[in-house]
Formats: sequence, C-alpha cells, structure tokens
Amino acid sequence: MKKAFTSDGVGAIAQTNHLGPYTLTRLLEKKLVASKARVVTVASVTHRTTVMADARAFLTDWRSGYYEHSKLANVLFAYELQRRLGNRGVTSCAADPGGVRSHIWDSSPMFKSGWKKAMIDFFYSPPVDGCQGVVHAATVDWNADRKSANGTPVMPADDLRYYSRGLFTSPLLCNLDGYRGKGFSSGQQAKGLVWGLSTLFTSLWDWPLRKLSGGLLASTTKPVRSATQTYDAKLAAELWEASAEVAKLPVAPQV
Ligand SMILES: NC(=O)c1ccc[n+]([C@@H]2O[C@H](COP(=O)([O-])OP(=O)(O)OC[C@H]3O[C@@H](n4cnc5c(N)ncnc54)[C@H](OP(=O)(O)O)[C@@H]3O)[C@@H](O)[C@H]2O)c1
Repeated sequence: MKKAFTSDGVGAIAQTNHLGPYTLTRLLEKKLVASKARVVTVASVTHRTTVMADARAFLTDWRSGYYEHSKLANVLFAYELQRRLGNRGVTSCAADPGGVRSHIWDSSPMFKSGWKKAMIDFFYSPPVDGCQGVVHAATVDWNADRKSANGTPVMPADDLRYYSRGLFTSPLLCNLDGYRGKGFSSGQQAKGLVWGLSTLFTSLWDWPLRKLSGGLLASTTKPVRSATQTYDAKLAAELWEASAEVAKLPVAPQV
C-alpha cells in the first residue's frame, strides 16, 4: 500500500487493519455483551517478525513492515478485548488463516505478477480452505478448548488464544520469535533465521500437504503460542487507550 494517512494522521495500514476493526468492535460492545459473542481478529504469522516499541507511534509513524506491525496490533487487541470483556461473557481471540491466494496480493507491487504470483497461485490455499481456521476459532467450544495440563496453563495464559492451522502450528514456528532487527543479540538473530526458514517451508507446503493427503494431514486448527510481545499487558493497554483517543471513544468499555 502506498504511503498515505487519514485526516487524523493515522497511517492507512494501521487504520484499515487495526483502527477500523477496533472502532467497529468498540461501537458494538453492548451487543457483544448482550449476546455473549465471540470476536475473532484475523491476524497473521507475520506478527512474529516485528516488535512494537511504542503503541501510540504505531498509529501515526509509517514504517518499514507496517503490515506486520498492524498484525501484531491485531493480536494485542484480541487479547486486550478478552481482558476487558472476558468477565462479561464475551470471548475474543486471534486467528491466522495461513497462506491464502485471496485478493490481498492483487494490490501488492511485489506479489501481483511474475513468478512470486505464480508461486502463490500454486502453493497457497483457495479462500474456501483459508477461512477454515477462522471459522474454527469463531465456533469452537471455548471452555472445552482450554489447554492446561494438571491445572497449569500450557500457554502463557489460558484465555489469550491465537489459533493456527496445519503446519502453521509447528513448534519451531510458534516457540521461536521471528524478529531479527537491529539491537538483537547473535543468538536472537540465529533464532530469527531458523524461524524464517521454517516459515518459508511452512507457507509453501501447508496447503499442498493438506490437498495431497485429502485433508488427512495439516488440517487441525488449535491454539498456539503467539509472539512473546503479544502477552505484554501494558503494551496492549497502551494500544487500546491510544486507539480510543484517536477514535474519540471512551477508554472504558460502554456496556
Ligand atoms: N491471504 C493471506 O495469505 C493472509 C495471510 C495471513 C493473514 N491474512 C489476513 O486475512 C485478512 C483478510 O485478507 P484476505 O487475504 O481475505 O484478503 P482480501 O480478499 O483482499 O480481503 C481483504 C478485505 O479488506 C478490505 N479492505 C482492503 N483495504 C481496505 C480499506 N482501505 N478500507 C476498507 N476495507 C478494505 C477489502 O475490501 P474490498 O473487497 O472492498 O477491496 C477486502 O474485503 C486480512 O486481515 C489479512 O491480513 C491473509
């Protein structure tokens, strides 16, 4: 997406991918509580490739990898909604659809044509398959899906859920963070490299494996660990508050 800002000074990607869905969800709070709704925020494996230094600056400072920042914001928002409305019967989670040959690539200068487009058309799943993980996250029995062993949560928190499907649930991909930016130690850089290679393999073989095995392999959707920073409650609260300010909404849920 070319560099653009709203009249409030919000980056177009932050507005489309985070602030728009944030505002809609906040305006629906009363109805969500009344119907004990499930809210699924569609994130992406790319949320693992970045870190957010400042929630407020995310909204207004255009940066390299802005899409990835917006997907990190999606997970932070999904978890913060669960913290704020979970005790009122709403359930909120994030979900990763995997690699899908949807219309999203058509407007990307890098992927809309040539061999990269051909790779996506060949290796990525059709939308009817890509939506399966999201539908699962929206409909799975929340209480039956708790992931605890002997009463101890396996994930950093039982109720903060990020759903992935097929090869995207691999431990290599879910337990290493993919970030390899400046200021990171060589050990972290190495982990990021292993993560990158594992993700490349995953995104190219997830759908073919499902298709070739007739759905026997790489079809399960389950809650997995999201990137370390997504569990930062202080950052999530800051993002919620900064978003409320820009969207001219009260910080406290209106229920
Ligand atoms: N495709 C993948 O491999 C993949 C992987 C990971 C995550 N995701 C996530 O999946 C979600 C859905 O994407 P998709 O792959 O299904 O792509 P898609 O088919 O292109 O859907 C994107 C949707 O966003 C809408 N949209 C785009 N720009 C907008 C704007 N400025 N204002 C309002 N609406 C706008 C589009 O509306 P119009 O139809 O009106 O243009 C479209 O309905 C996204 O959150 C994406 O980040 C996709």
